[in-house]
Amino acid sequence: MYDIAAFGRMIADQGRMGAYSRALQRSIAHGSTVLDIGAGTGILSLLACQYGARKVYAVEPSSAIAIAEEAARANGFADRMECIQALSTDIRLPQKADVIISDLRGVLPLFQQHLPSIVDARSRLLQPGGNLIPKRDVLWAAVVETPRSYDQLMKPWERERFDLNMAAASQIVKNVWKEGRVTPDQLLTKPYRWATIDYLTVESPDVSGEMTFQVERPGTGHGFVLWFDAVLEEGIGFSNAPGQPELIYSSGFFPWSSPVTLDPADAVSVDLRADLVGSDYVWSWETRVHGKDPGQLKAHFRQSTFFGAPLSPTQLRKRGGRYQPALREDGE
Ligand SMILES: C[S@@+](CC[C@H](N)C(=O)[O-])C[C@H]1O[C@@H](n2cnc3c(N)ncnc32)[C@H](O)[C@@H]1O
Repeated sequence: MYDIAAFGRMIADQGRMGAYSRALQRSIAHGSTVLDIGAGTGILSLLACQYGARKVYAVEPSSAIAIAEEAARANGFADRMECIQALSTDIRLPQKADVIISDLRGVLPLFQQHLPSIVDARSRLLQPGGNLIPKRDVLWAAVVETPRSYDQLMKPWERERFDLNMAAASQIVKNVWKEGRVTPDQLLTKPYRWATIDYLTVESPDVSGEMTFQVERPGTGHGFVLWFDAVLEEGIGFSNAPGQPELIYSSGFFPWSSPVTLDPADAVSVDLRADLVGSDYVWSWETRVHGKDPGQLKAHFRQSTFFGAPLSPTQLRKRGGRYQPALREDGE
């Protein structure tokens, strides 16, 4: 759930808003019916009205929809913009939309129910031949040298400071990825295109693929970063690649279990999967670093966010089939 300041940051992001605004201007013909999934405070719906939409359904489950409703009135669009407080997956519309607009991404496009929501809306709420904004997101990765991000994750749990064994936590932080940007000079390899999510055709929310990288300069590999280029309409989009102006989305830093000294002849392969389990993704990455000698395996790591959260015995017991909840004294 976003607070009002977070919605404000989304609107203040000129790279994102400029691209959305141009894409809407191009794709909304006078008289179009538009569905805005995840309308938030209504900014994209309002722009759609401004560009000539005849009817806009602004759908948002949070109470931010109250702001969209007031803004529709304040801008004279109340007769064309209908605000619906709900998830798109729970609504029916009296007419199908010519254009569906959304931005349901988190740091990365693989975020919560983003893909299932688009697949559902595309099949039930979009006219045959209708348009989707965004059209696709292309995900890229590269191996990085980023001692600062790596140390921020790992160092607190190392023995050095207080001579205490905190290995229980270090096993967990090795299995999380975190938001973080890097600069182009921190890349040790060329970017590799991991996946393309084409919103007009995507069916499964799960994405997987193997990437192979050739190390280009000597350095210490700490893991890889993952970012995306968004195509809203052909020729209109934005990118949060290293070196591009910052956007609200950032990129993901996936650490390795330990840093690896890399030489230009080394090859790195990463098998990366994102599987939607319940309400969010489990990310898994298996890395092999091959040295220049035939058969030389310099490093091999298997990591997954499945192991990236502490599980207490009490929590586990509660999930067991024989667990019987008991009332507390206060009746809860
Ligand atoms: C990143 S915000 C985008 C807000 C606004 N559209 C903008 O571009 O500034 C995404 C919003 O989508 C909403 N959301 C997520 N899944 C949704 C769904 N299936 N139906 C409707 N809203 C959804 C969230 O509550 C959140 O407010």
